[in-house]
Amino acid sequence: MTDWGSPAFNITIEGQDKGFICHGSDTLLGGALRAGFGVPYECGAGGCGSCKFELIHGEVEESRGEAPGLRPADRRKGKRLACISNPRSDCQIRVRCDPIYQPKIEPVRHDAKFVTCIPLTHDLWEFRFETTEAADFLPGQYAKLELPGVHGTRSYSMSNIKNAEGQWHFQIKRVVEGEATSVLFERLTPSQCIVIDAPYSIAHLKEGPPCSTVCIAGGSGLAPMVSILRGLGMLDGGAKNAVLYYGARGPDDVVDSKLFADIDGFDPKRQYRPVISDTDLDPDRRWSGPVGMVHEFIADDLSEDGDDTEFYIAGPPPMVDAVRRHLVLERHVSVDRLHYDRFY
Ligand SMILES: Cc1cc2nc3c(=O)[nH]c(=O)nc-3n(C[C@H](O)[C@H](O)[C@H](O)COP(=O)(O)OP(=O)(O)OC[C@H]3O[C@@H](n4cnc5c(N)ncnc54)[C@H](O)[C@@H]3O)c2cc1C
Ligand code: FES
Repeated sequence: MTDWGSPAFNITIEGQDKGFICHGSDTLLGGALRAGFGVPYECGAGGCGSCKFELIHGEVEESRGEAPGLRPADRRKGKRLACISNPRSDCQIRVRCDPIYQPKIEPVRHDAKFVTCIPLTHDLWEFRFETTEAADFLPGQYAKLELPGVHGTRSYSMSNIKNAEGQWHFQIKRVVEGEATSVLFERLTPSQCIVIDAPYSIAHLKEGPPCSTVCIAGGSGLAPMVSILRGLGMLDGGAKNAVLYYGARGPDDVVDSKLFADIDGFDPKRQYRPVISDTDLDPDRRWSGPVGMVHEFIADDLSEDGDDTEFYIAGPPPMVDAVRRHLVLERHVSVDRLHYDRFY
């Protein structure tokens, strides 16, 4: 567990009898979740707007100006985002907590060492880190990484499952001129230290009797789906009732099916369905699979109707929203069967 190195403040939530302590370098969202409060959130990065709150008194500083999760109308009404607000004094806030967001595992900051990275495609690499404490999280959850020289944190989903050895695996797509991905892909050296703050997300593998599972990933959204399949692989019967749709841009962006070889019950030939969106293919590039947008492909390909199916979705917000629209509006899948993280 790492030191905060900053003063601690008392935060109270209007209408709650207990408050929580939040360090100046932590966010109000982080502090609340660490203390077990169900403050609503999704991206943890200022993108989605789920963590809006009102500051009744006290002072906070925002780590990201003009965050897209807050519209001008929200700002005029005095709303702020808990995931990018660091306290600068004791505060009282107004936010509606919801038990669904109460963490099953409260997030903890760990010092981590970079171990290695393994290319999965030309621009999607698996980065591996190690902590002295156990890596404790549910399949499908994400971590917030504090990287040297990068302003703010970046969220990355784990692709492995919890383990006593402190192994944390992330599958990360390089973003051209991206601040964090430039550090990860170009400047990390073996044994270099970073901070991993985890776990976050309610889009994790659900407990309960095994049912069929549909995982749908786009681009960088692969990692949490691999973690969910690995989590299923550990259950009785393994991942035999799961299917993975993976939307990639072109043939070079499709990960090799060998990645799934060690998942018990998962037969990639039958259960891994990559689809590419690049319709303007060079004839020399071999691709015999489906072409189109992943939400259009599942409209034709998916047989499950949703009554006993859990749907897990991750990737760029437009892709996740198109898939959700299809499932809810056209297939009438109940929203409590949909579990998703949008990668803002
Ligand atoms: C829940 C979630 C899970 C994700 N999982 C993965 C994954 O498994 N693999 C993967 O490749 N990508 C994932 N991402 C995307 C990832 O977090 C980064 O946005 C991406 O790697 C680009 O980062 P960059 O710094 O290189 O690019 P940049 O273009 O420099 O920054 C991109 C994004 O970083 C965020 N950001 C910028 N400044 C700040 C700040 N001060 N504080 C907080 N956030 C800021 C914003 O969301 C911005 O859009 C995930 C995103 C979210 C929200
Ligand atoms: S969780 Fe704060 S904006 Fe998404």
